[in-house]
Amino acid sequence: MRLVLFTGKGGVGKTTMAAASAALVAGQGHKVLLVSTDPAHSLADALGTALGSEPAEVHGGLSAMQVDTQARFEQSWSVLRGYLTDLLGRGGVGTMAAEELTVLPGAQEILALTAVKEQAASGRWDAIVVDCAPTAETLRLLALPRALQWYMERILPTHRRMVRGLGPLLGGVPLPGDGVVEAVSRLHAELLGVQTLLDHEDTSIRLVLTAEAVVLAEARRTATSLALFGHRLDSVVVNRLIPGGGDPWREAWATAQQAQLDEVEASFPDLPIRKAQYRPAEPIGLPALAAIGADLYGSDDPLAAPPAGDLVDVRRAPDDEGERFELSIALPHAVKDAVDLARSGDDLVLTVGGYRRLLALPGVLRRCQVAGAGLADGRLRVVFRPDPDLWPRA
Ligand SMILES: Nc1ncnc2c1ncn2[C@@H]1O[C@H](COP(=O)(O)OP(=O)(O)O)[C@@H](O)[C@H]1O
Ligand SMILES: [Mg+2]
Repeated sequence: MRLVLFTGKGGVGKTTMAAASAALVAGQGHKVLLVSTDPAHSLADALGTALGSEPAEVHGGLSAMQVDTQARFEQSWSVLRGYLTDLLGRGGVGTMAAEELTVLPGAQEILALTAVKEQAASGRWDAIVVDCAPTAETLRLLALPRALQWYMERILPTHRRMVRGLGPLLGGVPLPGDGVVEAVSRLHAELLGVQTLLDHEDTSIRLVLTAEAVVLAEARRTATSLALFGHRLDSVVVNRLIPGGGDPWREAWATAQQAQLDEVEASFPDLPIRKAQYRPAEPIGLPALAAIGADLYGSDDPLAAPPAGDLVDVRRAPDDEGERFELSIALPHAVKDAVDLARSGDDLVLTVGGYRRLLALPGVLRRCQVAGAGLADGRLRVVFRPDPDLWPRA
């Protein structure tokens, strides 16, 4: 089953391009589910039909749904939230403030993807096309399962020990009951499922943008962050291109957009760049959407396999000074000053433009020390040499 997620800045045409792609794919005889996880649901408006939180057939092989993000969030989070609110309340934080503090940023969006995971597991679909929330939300969301996994692996065991050992010493602090621990574990399992789905080789992301400098700048940052978290971009969609000719106003826009389009092509040299013209009317309803889809993909398969190739790669590269390993990670568009690298136990902590990823080091690198790092050709290369204290001596 092929899973394609559409993301990009607000208003660039994510919903329209996702719907156009799904309409085209359904027209080609596939069973497709189109899902909106953006709390600002506009998919129903684009399709010109009402949608619910369960898949409903729109036409032919095309079904659609919009995830009730709030309900999903309440389901998974309410037990934990109750506990945290209680805890904070005892610490002197007012109930209102405590409730504000326990809204885990990004959780709503990531939990929306659990609905996609369920649909993927149902085996009903040849393809699922997801209309995601705007860039920033989506990125936070994609980082969450990894971050939570890290906390789960380190904090939950500690916590369990604490409950058993130190519990009685903690006095007035309410220890989380089994219900809370269970809720955390369940949440973790759900998030791991989402992560597995996103990491799957049949999953990829399409970045939608318009031919404007500000939008392109954000798209480039998005591409970096997606790579940072190991997510595969399979193509770029440039929407709302104004055809040249006619009056000077139109001609000026067409020229300006062409200059940006050249920048887009230079920015994403390895990816297909698809184009959609600015239509004279809002593309609403299946016929209009399918027409956009046909223009977008031409004779290409909209479900073509995403580009292969490892986003993270480790290789042995001994030199004159002895044993040496090189870990490299794709980081297109990253600039040196915005990249920070630190070693924390068995993890490499990589910060790029405010986003942080923990990279679990493979066994061989855990027994090494970081000896240097550099950025070139859109990849960060980290050099490791054996740690004399841990490396078995010959
Ligand atoms: N190529 C296009 N031509 C004309 N109108 C478009 C085009 N793409 C999108 N629109 C319109 O622009 C608005 C925003 O598009 P939408 O797909 O909802 O963006 P997003 O999901 O990124 O917020 C909608 O009214 C949509 O119908
Ligand atoms: Mg939208």
